[in-house]
Amino acid sequence: MKKIIIFGASGSVGRSAIELVRANPEQFKIVGASAGRRFKNLEKTATELNIEHLLDTRGQMTPQAITGFIQQCKPNIILNAVSGFAGLRFTLATLESNFPLALANKESLVAAGDFVMALSKERKSPIIPVDSEHSAIWQCLINDNTEIKPFNKIYLTCSGGPFFGKTDLSTVTPNQALEHPNWDMGEGITIDSATLANKCLEFFEAMHLFGATKDQVEIVIHPQSMVHSMVQFDDSSIIAQLSPPSMQLPIAYALNFPERSDCGLPSPDFRALDLSFRAPDKNTFRTLQVLEHCAAHMQNMPTVFNAVNEDARNAFIVGKISFVRIFEILEAVTTQIRIMPLESLEHIYEVDKNARAMAQALINKS
Ligand SMILES: NC(=O)c1ccc[n+]([C@@H]2O[C@H](COP(=O)([O-])OP(=O)(O)OC[C@H]3O[C@@H](n4cnc5c(N)ncnc54)[C@H](OP(=O)(O)O)[C@@H]3O)[C@@H](O)[C@H]2O)c1
Repeated sequence: MKKIIIFGASGSVGRSAIELVRANPEQFKIVGASAGRRFKNLEKTATELNIEHLLDTRGQMTPQAITGFIQQCKPNIILNAVSGFAGLRFTLATLESNFPLALANKESLVAAGDFVMALSKERKSPIIPVDSEHSAIWQCLINDNTEIKPFNKIYLTCSGGPFFGKTDLSTVTPNQALEHPNWDMGEGITIDSATLANKCLEFFEAMHLFGATKDQVEIVIHPQSMVHSMVQFDDSSIIAQLSPPSMQLPIAYALNFPERSDCGLPSPDFRALDLSFRAPDKNTFRTLQVLEHCAAHMQNMPTVFNAVNEDARNAFIVGKISFVRIFEILEAVTTQIRIMPLESLEHIYEVDKNARAMAQALINKS
């Protein structure tokens, strides 16, 4: 029986994890969970599943409040399913408390990858990816349950989102961008999948998790979302992980690691499958050009990318700016801001704040 804390239990990943626990009460027990705006929904689930400890994240959430909560709960593993940069403090508190981290919150690694990976190593608290692509890469790479095998290249697959094949995105509305063809996810990541910013975040996530250089990660469009990523080894052999598009599997895999368990997914009928792979269109999805610029410099640039994208995408959701303005704001801030090394965690919070201020000025001008 694994005892779990779910941070971000009211969101899409959090609710998928709750479904998994509900279906497998002999394997998992939720001992603690957090929510913010949807705390009332979580309270209902807590009564049904007998979750003893709840954390209401509305208002100021200090690192001490999070570590204190973790100590009360006494879990075996913690799932971080908080969205955005706000998830970083939950990642840090988990690792500082010496617990294994099932990580859905990719923004922790994008904004503070070197610090997070160093803390994981220092505290011997493993990070097991929950993002489906990184779970796939992890499954291809992990050796003897501990070591990452040497590899040549990572092929990071991408569905292409709802606008795959389109070249004019000037009239895109939030409702259109929220219609993902394959995945049912939270609002932020769904818009990020439509701009391909999500793939840019995942690119940085892969670099940090697997120690890859920028030249070792290649984005490949794969509209069917069956192959969740692939890894090529020195002898040119390529190993891929395939499964129907469902978060149940990567969540179950991370929570059960190193064991596997049945999570009720249907077997694909390979005779009826038509799997295709394409190059991404960098001219239309200009986030990919911004990615190239940021990946060439690294240092503070992924933190800046994440901060600006989060604010610009949120402004698009509420109708303040157009879809293509997200690209323009990303381009403007990432080329104007000073490139510099990240010196400390405090510095990361400052870089995030400054990048948002620059993005907000452009949003307000739009
Ligand atoms: N959805 C997917 O299928 C999927 C797949 C792969 C990776 N991911 C990653 O998983 C993370 C969560 O995604 P999601 O789609 O589940 O997002 P979501 O549906 O928007 O849920 C976000 C969760 O985080 C909580 N939250 C938001 N802001 C917070 C803050 N400032 N402090 C504390 N908690 C906060 C929300 O609480 P309230 O809503 O109650 O305020 C909610 O529980 C993201 O990093 C995303 O990139 C998601």
